[in-house]
Amino acid sequence: MDASVLLSRLACPLIPVVVIDRLDDAVPLAEALMQGGVSALEITLRTQVACEAISAMKSAMPHAVIGAGTVSSGEAYEAAVQSGADFVVSPGATDQLFKAAAAHTVPFLPGAVTGSEVLRAMESGYTTLKFFPAEAAGGPSALQALSGPFPDINFMPTGGVTLQNVAAYLQLNNVCAVGGSWLTPRDLLIDQKWEAVYQLATDSVTQVTQMSRGEPQ
Ligand code: 3PG
Repeated sequence: MDASVLLSRLACPLIPVVVIDRLDDAVPLAEALMQGGVSALEITLRTQVACEAISAMKSAMPHAVIGAGTVSSGEAYEAAVQSGADFVVSPGATDQLFKAAAAHTVPFLPGAVTGSEVLRAMESGYTTLKFFPAEAAGGPSALQALSGPFPDINFMPTGGVTLQNVAAYLQLNNVCAVGGSWLTPRDLLIDQKWEAVYQLATDSVTQVTQMSRGEPQ
């Protein structure tokens, strides 16, 4: 299912992209980010504990919007759905992934950068796509260019998006959310500095909300 409805309901368009190494960190980390004002998290399936972490977060915070990221195969898609993920994100898209997505109602954000990739996602019924790696693939100007031939497609750019460059993405009409790992720096997670994670989320959400409203920084 397309993710447009889910993303349009998020109070904050900023989605932390999280790499989690220790299962015990899952709940305190999610609590710190959510208390900091974040509306949704993307837990990347890049570590052994990622699916268990999603399940633990959903058990502790049933109303939190927790997605699975880096979903790169049909099997991984199934695992993400079984873990209770509220949405699924992939850096690309394949027949296998579209097939797995069609078998479930969980919203899916396929990755697309080129015109052909966008067209392929559109053929499968998707209008909200991940744009990765955003900075390396041309950044805001590439997204602006895609709005010409694809006026009905929205993107969630990730990959090189930071608090310093996020404004240029958020001001585009075809950007509905942004993702980034800057809200969960590895050193803070290793040292379990949840208060610092909370503070970083609060600061970032405040700035992003002001940007979204067009207020001066
Ligand atoms: C992703 O999977 O979206 C990226 O790894 C996030 O990129 P970043 O680390 O540059 O924010």
